[in-house]
Amino acid sequence: MSNAPVSSNVKWHHGELDEASRQDLLGGPGCVVWFTGLSGSGKSTVARRVERLLLEEGSRAYVLDGDNLRHGLNGDLGFSAADRTENIRRVGEVARLMQDAGLVVLSAFVSPYAADRRKVRSRVSEGAFIEVFVDTPLEVCESRDPKGLYKKARAGEIANFTGISAPYEAPEAPEIHLKTAGLSVDACARFVIEGIRAHGYARRA
Ligand code: ADX
Repeated sequence: MSNAPVSSNVKWHHGELDEASRQDLLGGPGCVVWFTGLSGSGKSTVARRVERLLLEEGSRAYVLDGDNLRHGLNGDLGFSAADRTENIRRVGEVARLMQDAGLVVLSAFVSPYAADRRKVRSRVSEGAFIEVFVDTPLEVCESRDPKGLYKKARAGEIANFTGISAPYEAPEAPEIHLKTAGLSVDACARFVIEGIRAHGYARRA
């Protein structure tokens, strides 16, 4: 889908400040930290710990989470390939706006299709999209099964379940490759924060 509006009668408006002054006043540039991985891999848990640690250090961070957004903005979407693509497109646009407003956006979505993630990357300013592959083996996710969904998927009660009856395309070159096995939530969060800082964001004041 093109980003051009359907109507030709809408025009982009710019703010009064130039980009550098605006970012200065906002307290630094924002970024989109995009967690992708299987259901139960730990995306939301790690993202929430990262959010807390960053907020406590004075950075402005905010979590966007798949289950939560599907209660509101994306409540009309299911789990077909087309619906997931639309889910990620909308969330990508929200993340982009929040990043533009100076936030460290922590997006936690399965986002199983590489092309959908690439599209979001292309919509975010150069270098500000930081992909985090939450790499937890399917066996581990399935043994955790925090919401009982794998059990239902195996029993055929949920169709199109990622990793069981729907594909997951792992990132080939994520900015941050988080192998969660054997790491505590805190250790995972600190690893991600180090990665964010290495890319020049969420710098300490
Ligand atoms: S995505 O594929 O469109 O990116 P999203 O991250 O919003 O998915 O939502 C995934 C969450 O919805 C999972 O963590 C799980 O709790 C729940 N869920 C329900 N049905 C499915 C399904 N068929 N496949 C994957 N997750 C599902």
